[in-house]
Amino acid sequence: MRIDIITLLPELLKSPFEASIMKRAIEKELVEVHFHNLRDYTDLSYNQVDDYQYGGGAGMVIMIEPIDKCISKLKSERNYDEVIYLTPDGETLNQQIANNLSLKGNIIMLCGHYKGIDQRARDLFITKEISIGDYVLSGGELGAAVLCDAIVRLLPGVLNDETSALTDSFQDNLLAPPVYTRPASYKGLDVPEILLSGNFPKIEKWREEQAYKRTEERRPDLLENSEN
Ligand code: ADE
Repeated sequence: MRIDIITLLPELLKSPFEASIMKRAIEKELVEVHFHNLRDYTDLSYNQVDDYQYGGGAGMVIMIEPIDKCISKLKSERNYDEVIYLTPDGETLNQQIANNLSLKGNIIMLCGHYKGIDQRARDLFITKEISIGDYVLSGGELGAAVLCDAIVRLLPGVLNDETSALTDSFQDNLLAPPVYTRPASYKGLDVPEILLSGNFPKIEKWREEQAYKRTEERRPDLLENSEN
């Protein structure tokens, strides 16, 4: 998989890709991530990429031309499956969207800033608009980092234990069950007996029950939308 991220602030984005799972995925060549600074695609003085909005109102809008130039250059080099714009008015990210995107080959992610980007750029180039939640960030960079992390950990070979993404919360519309590690007893708090029993069918059943219980308590909406 190849991900091209178009941003005004590449430095804000880089560190999540230089640590942990995403770093390992890049080192193992399971994913390539490339950053493109929109300011490299403008001919205006001071590398201007934004301007006042027509009709008046507070906030600057990113102009279509640098977006066009950057995306057109990338598209001239290879085909892309999706051109995603990170925006609070996009479709809210969930596990299903991450699963689908993890099956793609080449993806562009465009990060907005200020009041957003000229609507014509959205109409012309964007195939998918994604929000990471109902709150407004200063720009799309953190959203792009979140989206990349959610996708990259699903790529085959990225996680050590390949089944571990399958047991994540949301993969079956249930939250994950509680987990424990050593010591078996800490300040009077004991690990549930069943987990020490070695009876794996029973442990599996307990985990399923706990996942269901936790989902019922915390996210009953997930149960309404599934057949569990
Ligand atoms: N840009 C600003 N806010 C955002 C959000 N909630 N999700 C994705 N991109 C954004």
